[in-house]
Amino acid sequence: KNPLVAFGAGKVILLGEHSVVYGYPAIAGPLSIGVVARGVPSRSCVLDVPVTADAAQKRMMRKAFARAARLVGEPKVKVTLEPQLPLSAGLGSSAALAVATSRVLLQAAGQAPTPKETARLAWEMEQEFHGTPSGVDHTTSAEEKLILYRRVQAPSGATGRARELKSPRPVSVVVALAGARSPTKLTVGALRERQARWPERYKRLFGQVGRLVTDAAKAVEAGDLEGLGDAMNVNQGLLNALGLSSPALEDMVFRLRSMGALGAKFTGAGGDGGAVIGLFSEPEPVVARLTRDGVRCFASQLAGPRAQGDIP
Ligand code: MEV
Repeated sequence: KNPLVAFGAGKVILLGEHSVVYGYPAIAGPLSIGVVARGVPSRSCVLDVPVTADAAQKRMMRKAFARAARLVGEPKVKVTLEPQLPLSAGLGSSAALAVATSRVLLQAAGQAPTPKETARLAWEMEQEFHGTPSGVDHTTSAEEKLILYRRVQAPSGATGRARELKSPRPVSVVVALAGARSPTKLTVGALRERQARWPERYKRLFGQVGRLVTDAAKAVEAGDLEGLGDAMNVNQGLLNALGLSSPALEDMVFRLRSMGALGAKFTGAGGDGGAVIGLFSEPEPVVARLTRDGVRCFASQLAGPRAQGDIP
């Protein structure tokens, strides 16, 4: 029998990280790199963890796998994971892993890995990885589209509502890594404490981000990259106001802007460092220049005609 193979895409959040946790909208798109999972027949249902994972990550992966495996009746399959993404860079590696694994588990159990079923199972794994995530990561990965996402608590088990955003023009970003990454749990937890202490102030800021996201969604659909870029820049200012930025992230944001980015901001958790995105109509020369200067980066097309994926 042929081995089962499935892919789970990494993701970037274009706008709206963090406020998405509190029910405000966000825009996120899939990367064409992610995690590949392979399944071969086996005596039991087991996970072969990636060698690049550290001890804590391995423990978490096994726990998450066991939870998903139980839900599909523990099909007799051995699942091997091949991450193409750095494991803790804020690019949705855990969601990509959850989606790829869920697709293999569903197939092994004789069920169709539809985006909906995949997202449902991947969500169970994500909860082991993150506690109470908004669900934007695994939804983006399972849908593999640029989406406008809003968290909802649905009794059906769905974590949020997603609508595809189509763009008449390519939406391409340069993803650059800066500084040392902060764990998502830490930045989300610190913000939770601040907003619990000064709820009205933080609600106002989240509301501002929410409006920017609505504007940005319209800009994407109209092919207005300048409007989208400006919304990203203002979102970065608000992320800074929310206490989520740092010198390493701000430096990279300004570097990308000085290289002609229509908009630039960090993406994901923020904190001491992590991934920064810049919106460019021509990303390749930017990637070449940054790479020459020793910056870890790549380009990715998130939406638009003829999506062509990453330039590694
Ligand atoms: C992490 O990719 C995005 C955050 O908004 C957390 C979440 O949505 O669960 C920071």
